[in-house]
Amino acid sequence: MHLTLQQLRLFESVSRLGSYTQAANELFITQPAVSIQIKRLEEQVGLALFEQVGKKTFPTAAGKIMYTASLDIMNRVEDLKISIEELKGTVKGVLQMSVVTTAKYFLPKLLGAFLHHYPDVEPKLKFTNRARVIERLMNNEDDFVVMGQIPKDENLAAYPFLNNILGIVAHSDHPLANKKNITIKDLAKQKFLIRETGSGTRHVFDQLLQEHGVEIEPYMELGSSEALKQAVMAGLGIAVLSLHSVQLERDVNKLIVLDVEGFPLKRRWYAVHLKGKKLSLVAQTFLDYILEESHNVLGVKYK
Ligand code: PGA
Repeated sequence: MHLTLQQLRLFESVSRLGSYTQAANELFITQPAVSIQIKRLEEQVGLALFEQVGKKTFPTAAGKIMYTASLDIMNRVEDLKISIEELKGTVKGVLQMSVVTTAKYFLPKLLGAFLHHYPDVEPKLKFTNRARVIERLMNNEDDFVVMGQIPKDENLAAYPFLNNILGIVAHSDHPLANKKNITIKDLAKQKFLIRETGSGTRHVFDQLLQEHGVEIEPYMELGSSEALKQAVMAGLGIAVLSLHSVQLERDVNKLIVLDVEGFPLKRRWYAVHLKGKKLSLVAQTFLDYILEESHNVLGVKYK
């Protein structure tokens, strides 16, 4: 069988996207070029790899086997490239990470500073909520992940690198703005804006209420820290937020942090991977960098 890596890449793309046209767009080639290469591949295999049902392209039985094999082959080639670069001692290649959405307020800055030193690193970052990050972590899909609330699991290696301070944030004109020592029970009457289930920030919030035996009927549930922040600024309610996400708004006094008992909560940001995982040179170098340089790069307020 004469197969080329380019054909396997094309095939993988068509299988994953279920469309010749989308694969062509993804790979910046024309749709007929994709069809020709897939046809050649089918001639080599001696069987059809796809079937067309309506507008969608589905893999045949042979296509499914071919898909698994092509992923294996491409991963091996990727590993080979990494091993060769590592033998040469070059910090080069893909850095694949998943990061909880709230970390978008500081991780790009760390990555930017790192890339300045190592311009040949190709960062691939997924910003998604805690639940999805945990799923990817357990499936070993990333070099490492960054999150605030790590699951209790002894198979994980976790490295704290930065403080994550969580406060109850309100509009600067809020009636409780100047009140001292507000109790959690006092807050129960307020309109609370909360993150979606699966979010780490929401997890902290739920735990907190449980610890205080307080029940709150949330006023509104929103899908990101950014949405919560905008809603708080619009005066719709108050919210628990990582103070990383509201730094600029606090600086210009659009938002304030309420003085609530037990707050602010001091948590940490962690880099996490499965125990026993062998990190690539790129991943290890970035991990060392954030452990050593985060405070320098981000400034003292994040300590
Ligand atoms: P989130 O996670 O962005 O999913 O809320 C934040 C965290 O893990 O602290």
